[in-house]
Amino acid sequence: MSMNCATRSASAPGKVILFGEHAVVYGQPAIAVPVTQVKASVTVAPAPPGSGLTIVASDLGADYRLDAAPPDEPLTAAARLALSHCSAPEPDATLTLRSTIPIASGLGSGTAVSTALIRALAEFLGCPMETAELSALVFEIEKIHHGTPSGIDNTVVAYAQPVYFRRGHPVERLAVGAPFTLLIGDTGIRSSTREAVEQVRESRRRDPARYDALFDQIGDVASEARRAIEAGRVDALGPLMDENHELLIELGVSSPELDELVESARFGGAMGSKLSGAGRGGNMVALVEEDCVEEVAEELREAGAVRVIVTTITTADTTAD
Ligand code: PMV
Repeated sequence: MSMNCATRSASAPGKVILFGEHAVVYGQPAIAVPVTQVKASVTVAPAPPGSGLTIVASDLGADYRLDAAPPDEPLTAAARLALSHCSAPEPDATLTLRSTIPIASGLGSGTAVSTALIRALAEFLGCPMETAELSALVFEIEKIHHGTPSGIDNTVVAYAQPVYFRRGHPVERLAVGAPFTLLIGDTGIRSSTREAVEQVRESRRRDPARYDALFDQIGDVASEARRAIEAGRVDALGPLMDENHELLIELGVSSPELDELVESARFGGAMGSKLSGAGRGGNMVALVEEDCVEEVAEELREAGAVRVIVTTITTADTTAD
């Protein structure tokens, strides 16, 4: 392993889940897309001999030497995983992390931080890795954050492309037949993915038949959405998002604040809308025509959204392996 000790940088986008959250944990398909308007960036720069690895993450309130940090803290765990994957000793370096992705809101903050950190550190160590390897390492860190993640977040963030994801299946990148525009509205309420997933697990334990039927229906919606996205039938996506939201309400993971934003987006002219991610807070997503963007964004703000992000989804022209 040769360390060339030049400064290295990497970044990773946020993401939203468009269809299939929660059901994806139980083997159903789901669709997620990168959100490039927000990102995590990591720079690794050489430091004087003997200084070890220092992690500086002011946006996350963290600033420490690797050897002084708790081993299960996610940033430290990601750095250690990169070192062990690269069979490299701790380098003398300063790792600086910045992120514009809101925390605990379903936009993939933790995932993007781990992805950018592992990629930048591996490159600094002279051991660049393929996207599939990177995604697998980030999945290990996701387990620290979330307990039993499906793997969709690390996949969409590492590949930085729209994906159709099924647990245990090879990654399928989604060809987007016609671009479409999304508005992402933040309730401002932080939500724990781990707790939401645990709540659904407990509900299913009490009534497996009902919950498995809901998961099947969500899976059917995600499969239908995949066909619509690939065929460029954007009109078909709105009603599918509405249907998915209703099923998420039945799963018990929506909240009055999410329902309020979802309804106000529809009122403002969105073609469809739903909560996105773990639910109980965090973000919702609405499908909007170009000329309705401002109107729907205004409705969302009036209904209490603390942040609105606009993003247009196309097939990425990157060539991630
Ligand atoms: O981390 P979030 O809020 O994007 O939610 C993850 C999606 C879930 O389906 C709820 C959990 C998972 O691991 O897939």
